[in-house]
Amino acid sequence: MSRKIEQYLEEKKSLVEQALQKCMPKPTGLAGEVIRSMHYSLFAGGKRIRPILCIAGAEAVGGSADDVLPVACAVELIHSYSLIHDDLPAMDNDDFRRGKPTNHKVFGEAVAVLAGDGLLTQAFNLMARYGLEKQGKKTALLRVIDLIASAAGCKGMVGGQVVDITYEGKDPDPTVVEYIHRHKTGALIAASVTAGTILANGTEEEVRAINRYGQEIGLVFQIADDILNIEGSEDVLGKGTGSDQERGKITYPSVFGLSESKHIQKRLVDQAIEFLNKFDQRTEPLRDLARYIIKRRA
Ligand code: IPE
Ligand code: IPE
Ligand code: MG
Ligand code: MG
Repeated sequence: MSRKIEQYLEEKKSLVEQALQKCMPKPTGLAGEVIRSMHYSLFAGGKRIRPILCIAGAEAVGGSADDVLPVACAVELIHSYSLIHDDLPAMDNDDFRRGKPTNHKVFGEAVAVLAGDGLLTQAFNLMARYGLEKQGKKTALLRVIDLIASAAGCKGMVGGQVVDITYEGKDPDPTVVEYIHRHKTGALIAASVTAGTILANGTEEEVRAINRYGQEIGLVFQIADDILNIEGSEDVLGKGTGSDQERGKITYPSVFGLSESKHIQKRLVDQAIEFLNKFDQRTEPLRDLARYIIKRRA
């Protein structure tokens, strides 16, 4: 990975970490247990790719992290909720996440379900409150809230997750796997980067191009996750490997094989970068991020 993108990721991640600390309720009072459980997963050490993409989407059109931090936090909250629920025994039944025992292993299933619900709800709280504070951004924020809700809901991430689960053990199918990946992972990634561009007052043409870029890297991100589930190191990933095959998941490697999946990844990265053709050098981090996604080890 190039020094430049490494530094960029580190810098933006630290902004995101600070903002996340501020946006979460304190684990006090009678309901403290669910808030502790929310903190446990949120601060277990994720890469923060979605919030970083949100910032990079704003910077691509001349905006800054300050314009988008509450929304960047909101997408990370939604992502963290999705991981808690994804790991539940009723779903992927996984024991490790972000280098620690999964949420339900520590807090029990009932509290883990509620912690996910709490994070999802908190995300919309955060965005709505930001809209109330910044009257000038109200319309852009309503558009962003609509975009993120659609990406997270039954036509987006939830839709992808249900197909992922209901097709376990079925015959590998190219149409189904593309649907799963574009929805369970691609939708929220695309919405994250696009939200940044909208909030930084990108033109309609810019918003469209960034969204297309986001959809392609979102798909690539999940293909890379599939490959890491086969070739990755559990220590570096902070989660188990080999589980996709054990559960009979429909993945890119199960449909196309490992080596063809790697070719598809490269093609998609090139296509994603092409959507940035009309932008200036401010989209350099987005180009580097696209390349980073298939080189990452975690
Ligand atoms: C893991 O996402 C689940 C997928 C959607 C592929 P990340 O790889 O972004 O996980 P964290 O946030 O860094 O833990
Ligand atoms: C996770 O997909 C997608 C969501 C949580 C929405 P996976 O189940 O493939 O991701 P990991 O491998 O558990 O992180
Ligand atoms: Mg899953
Ligand atoms: Mg999983």
